[in-house]
Amino acid sequence: MNVADTERMEALMLERGGALTEQIEEADVIVINGCSVREKAVHKAVSYLGEHKGLKTRYEGPVIALGGCVGQLDQGEIFKRAPYVDFVFGPDAIDQLPELVDRAKRGERHFVQAEFDKTLSYSTQTKVKKNKALAFVNIMKGCDKYCTYCIVPFTRGREKSRTIQEVLDDVAALVSQGVREVTLLGQNVNSFGKGNPNTAGYEPAELSNPIGKVGPRPGEENFVQLLYAMNRDPRLKQLKRIRFTSSHPLDFSDQLIGAYADPKEGGVDNLAKHLHLPVQSGSNAILQKMGRHHKVETYVEQMKVLKSISPDIGLSTDIIVGFPGETEEDFEATLKLLTEIEYDNIYAFSYSPRPGTRAEKLVDDVSKKVKSERLARVMKHQLDIAEGRYAERIGRTMEVLVVGLARNDGMLANSKLGRVWTGHTTCNRVVNFIDQSGRNLEGSFLNIKITNASGLSLQGDLIHDAGFAEGISVA
Ligand code: 5AD
Ligand code: SF4
Repeated sequence: MNVADTERMEALMLERGGALTEQIEEADVIVINGCSVREKAVHKAVSYLGEHKGLKTRYEGPVIALGGCVGQLDQGEIFKRAPYVDFVFGPDAIDQLPELVDRAKRGERHFVQAEFDKTLSYSTQTKVKKNKALAFVNIMKGCDKYCTYCIVPFTRGREKSRTIQEVLDDVAALVSQGVREVTLLGQNVNSFGKGNPNTAGYEPAELSNPIGKVGPRPGEENFVQLLYAMNRDPRLKQLKRIRFTSSHPLDFSDQLIGAYADPKEGGVDNLAKHLHLPVQSGSNAILQKMGRHHKVETYVEQMKVLKSISPDIGLSTDIIVGFPGETEEDFEATLKLLTEIEYDNIYAFSYSPRPGTRAEKLVDDVSKKVKSERLARVMKHQLDIAEGRYAERIGRTMEVLVVGLARNDGMLANSKLGRVWTGHTTCNRVVNFIDQSGRNLEGSFLNIKITNASGLSLQGDLIHDAGFAEGISVA
């Protein structure tokens, strides 16, 4: 979400005639877009600010702004600690960024723009830099779930969705600019559509799941309708992959599982074979304290059905370790769940209390030491699982969307042979490969034969690059 927000900020500033610089000393505007979901992320944003305070004297230097969820939460408190910050803004003020910068340039200081947008509807237009094959498309914002540990409902506000028609037109414009993969974004995309009447009669009219409680009401638009509408829209013919993130198991519907089926069986053919569905814990007692309103067993059952429909699907999840009251037994239940589901990838975090949340009032009784031990154990456990899964891919040829040059890969040692590129498969596995031609491969779909695997990424050889000459589509 924050990456997408940052891209939007960049695009808005570029539209105003700005240019990006890699040299922070050269910048005359510095915007820190901070995440507040965990304490550590807030510390990162604030310490980054501290590292760069020397760039500004009292009378000169760049405009410095603090934005995103950190800005929303901070509401200007930062001015006391860091008076060199000119203004603070929240996620709903992103589109006003150029005007806010102008106000600061005119000498206004220490102002806060962190009002929630109070309208019930949500309308926007995606902005991307030119020549990009991959775009993030916000389809809804906010979250109404109020998991007990989570600050997002307080920093991003209530759920609001764009209309299906608006998203279709937006994605059509992106596809005409060369975009071939979209990630539909929201805090809880599977509840997309709430409050928007389904006047066009999109199907399926209603969503259900074994837990019973699913997303929008009958008569309203819903996420599965959006996927099928994207699949049908002739303007999106060249769109190769649709992804989405993030979601809550309560809104994960039977109909969405059906969308992963083979197109001949009624599935959505450009839906990427990947699902990120946060589970947070493998213990029912902890899930209950987290206010997640579902059981481990129902989640496992949903994943089983999904795998039976789409056997090659790549699954990922979020895990929190050290939630208040988490016993060794609870933690081991999480390890067991990872073994059972066999995720490709997990994002694991140590619990940190967030201001204003219900869990903040619980005693944070798992010591720092135990939290970090559990974090290391869960990551090691997952790495072992992923190593096995990734190794199964050796020898296969996979279609990879190239996203850029690789940064930290062992293959870099061989880079005298050429440049190391990185990309991902439809299942969202990272694939690195060497290209000796010197061309810019960013945005190409290429066939790569997998030669090596670790628990985090695959390595392979470029075996077929006819598609590059043709642009960004390989059949
Ligand atoms: N402490 C640790 N992790 C958290 N997350 C959200 N809130 C907290 C918190 N207070 C994690 C969840 C969520 C992901 C985006 O961040 O796993 O899915
Ligand atoms: Fe936070 Fe996700 Fe729960 Fe919403 S569903 S409150 S964003 S963890």
